[in-house]
Parts: sequence; structure tokens; C-alpha cells
Amino acid sequence: MEDFGGKVAFITGGASGIGLGIAKALVGAGAKVAIADIRTEALDRAMASFAADRSRVAPIRLDVTSRGEWVRAADEAERALGPVQILCNNAGIALPRGPLYKATYNDWDFCLGINLGGVVNGVMTIVPRILAHGRGGHVVNTSSMGALMAGAGEGIYTTAKYGVAGLTEELRSDLRPHNIGVSLLCPGPTKTELFVSSGAVRPSDKSKTGYTHPIVPGLPPGAPPPMVDFAMRAEEVGEKVLRGIRRNDLFILTHPEFRHVLKARCDALLAAIPNDPVPEARRKFADEVVKDVIYAEQIAKGAP
Ligand SMILES: NC(=O)c1ccc[n+]([C@@H]2O[C@H](COP(=O)([O-])OP(=O)(O)OC[C@H]3O[C@@H](n4cnc5c(N)ncnc54)[C@H](O)[C@@H]3O)[C@@H](O)[C@H]2O)c1
Repeated sequence: MEDFGGKVAFITGGASGIGLGIAKALVGAGAKVAIADIRTEALDRAMASFAADRSRVAPIRLDVTSRGEWVRAADEAERALGPVQILCNNAGIALPRGPLYKATYNDWDFCLGINLGGVVNGVMTIVPRILAHGRGGHVVNTSSMGALMAGAGEGIYTTAKYGVAGLTEELRSDLRPHNIGVSLLCPGPTKTELFVSSGAVRPSDKSKTGYTHPIVPGLPPGAPPPMVDFAMRAEEVGEKVLRGIRRNDLFILTHPEFRHVLKARCDALLAAIPNDPVPEARRKFADEVVKDVIYAEQIAKGAP
């Protein structure tokens, strides 16, 4: 997508942090943006930050886990701004770090419901609308570096974000013939409200947690858990997302300091491939299967 002028974007978790950073980048490029969020006071604060561009931004109250609310929110965005062409499924929460075996089902349901279920609901609600108007579009799903590397003590979060990665790669393949690009955003540490909002949005019927220690390692219990000062600014992530949509990048990675971890993972995968001879029939079958995978172009160009 080259030109954003007058195009309509719908961004979940758009009231703060990375969602707001994406909204600002898109508005700066000429788009109209619906910022959808469960925290109405954060929506008010976000609106105040748009100043002169306010007329191109619509605040919409949405709990991404509610399928009924999704329909109402999509209708509201269309009425206010026009047909949606860009969908950013970005709302998410974090849990305190800790081993999986300490989790309660409430921890699982809370995290999977928003971080994975919210993306499913967004895709199910908005993508058919983009297909129906036929003007093309783009979907960005916010995952995390946590979708590409495990072991940081964020098991439920990582499970959800790996799920978002799989969904996104499949969606890219499904939507390729329809002029709808799809990207997976995998940010590293970014200065946002995540650790505050995650507590604020946790519903009382999912409050039983197995994790009672501080959400950020090293912080004394009860201390406010701000995102660390050296983390990337959300506006910078937003600009990278804009570039990723322009180029229709599959992966939008933001933090080069994790390159060595990704390389180690790719190396481990390649090293795990058995060096056995492959019978002709199996090779032919594999060639048939990979004809349609999202890396087919790369493979045709001679990638290993
Ligand atoms: N901040 C980071 O370091 C970081 C790193 C990797 C990935 N991420 C991901 O980025 C995304 C955005 O988070 P952020 O860091 O900008 O935090 P943030 O708290 O600033 O923004 C998240 C927003 O999502 C909203 N939200 C939460 N539950 C919701 C629900 N049920 N329905 C609608 N809105 C809901 C919150 O109210 C909040 O405004 C999340 O998916 C997060 O997992 C963040």
C-alpha cells in the first residue's frame, strides 16, 4: 500500500503505547483512524494528543474479547470514517513472569482471550468487510519478540504470541490473491503503559492468579511498574509499522539487538533437519505442497 491519504484504519489497543504510535504514524501519513480500546479514560487522553488532526480520529470503546462489541465497533468506525482498509490487531496484556506450572486457568483464559482471541475476533469481523468492499487493504497483527524466542519466563504470553504468528502467516497466504497485505509486528521492549494497563483491564471473574511476584523482575512488590526508560519509543515502532505496510513486509521487526537469538533459533531448526536421502515421490509431494507457502517466491529465487 503506497498511499494512505483518506484510507481508514482500525487499531485495537489504540489508546496508548504501540497502538497509539501506529495511529499517529498513520494519521501523519494522511489516513483516518479509529482507535479502539477498552479503557475509555485512555481514549480521552489519546484524543487530546491529536490536537489539530482530531477530526480524522474516532475513539471507539471495544473489548476485543467480545464478538458482539466487535460488530458494533466496526459499524461505528464505518459510520464515522468510512470503510476500513487497514486493520491493526494490537490490543494485548502481559502477565508477571513465572513458570507455566504456577499458572491458574484464569491466567490462561485472561491472556489467551485478549492476546490471541482478540486477534481472531478482529480478523473474523473486519477481514470479510475489507473483502466485501474490494478496495484492498492491509492487516497488521501485533505479536512480539516473544513469538520468536521462548524461555524468558513468559509461557502463556509466548503461547498466545506464537499463535498470532501462525494465524498471521496463514492469513497472508489466504489474502494474497485479494490485494490485502498482511504483516506480523514483533516489537521488542517498548516504552508503553503495558504493565499498568494489564492490571487495569483484568476482569474480576478471571482474577485468580498463580503469579504474585512483581510484574517486572527486580521491582519491589507494590511498586509502580513503568516500562523501563531505555526502551524504544512507541512512535518509533509506529513509523516502522508504516514502512512495513508500505512495503508489505511479512515480518516487521523493530529491535536489532535480538538478532543473535533469532539466528540461534534458525540455526537450531536447520541443524535439526535430518541428512537422510529423500525418495523421489516424497520430494515431488513436498514440491507440490510448498508451491503455495508464503515463502514460495523466495524459494523460486533460489533460497536454500
Ligand atoms: N511494550 C512492549 O515492550 C511490547 C513488546 C512486544 C509486544 N508488545 C505488544 O504490543 C501490544 C500493545 O501493547 P503496549 O505495549 O503498547 O501496551 P499499552 O498498555 O500501552 O497498550 C495496550 C492497549 O491495549 C488495551 N487493551 C487491553 N485489553 C484490551 C481489551 N480486552 N480490549 C481492548 N483493548 C484492550 C489497553 O487498554 C491498552 O490501551 C500488545 O499486544 C503487547 O503484547 C509490547
